[in-house]
Amino acid sequence: MTESVPVITIDGPSGSGKGTIAQRVATRLGWRVLDSGALYRLLGLATANAGIGFEDEFKIIEIANKIKVDFDGDSIRMDGQDVTDLIRTESAGNNASKVAAMPGVRAALLDWQRRYAEAPGLVADGRDMGTTVFPHAKVKIFLTASAEERARRRHKQLKEKGLPANLAALTAEIEERDARDRGRAASPLVPAPDAIEIDSTGVDIEDVVEEVLRRAHTAYAV
Ligand code: C5P
Repeated sequence: MTESVPVITIDGPSGSGKGTIAQRVATRLGWRVLDSGALYRLLGLATANAGIGFEDEFKIIEIANKIKVDFDGDSIRMDGQDVTDLIRTESAGNNASKVAAMPGVRAALLDWQRRYAEAPGLVADGRDMGTTVFPHAKVKIFLTASAEERARRRHKQLKEKGLPANLAALTAEIEERDARDRGRAASPLVPAPDAIEIDSTGVDIEDVVEEVLRRAHTAYAV
């Protein structure tokens, strides 16, 4: 990674819309996307598959250094197995947030994430993209939405996929995960001092995309 590669960071809690916005902004600019949450989800799944306790930081770091991941369009393979849907469940999100709370695990994923920054540019989505992974980025967005709205969006997504979904349980899970992500000592979910905060509750996603593109245009002349 070189610091001359333009980077847009989009951080925020789960369900704030950052994944969709990151994809749309990247498509419009012809840039790459880093879905950093997917890396933590993959590691959570690999940890569960290996039958390792979620408190065993040393062994989880070993796994992080060993797993082989291929991103191919929308599908993701880990050690040869298609895990695209497996990593998107609520329990995979919860496992991700457990491994993500460990400083050694986060450090093990740092270089991997930074290697995504290649010309012509990168849109990086996560929790600490603007604070820790790409602090030099000139466009930093911190996207929020109320917990109820985020649970409703997730509920709709699951229903559309024909998966079981319970709104009250989803709200509780989202709140539990947020509390862990905000409260941890290592790279907690907080806006970078130079991030723009956008509340997407009741806002059209396309309006947020346009706002991010305007800022990218000013910062990077794209
Ligand atoms: O964004 P997503 O819901 O896929 O992330 C899953 C979990 O991974 C989050 O709840 C968070 O604990 C962790 N994560 C993180 N840092 C990132 C991205 C995700 O700690 N940059």
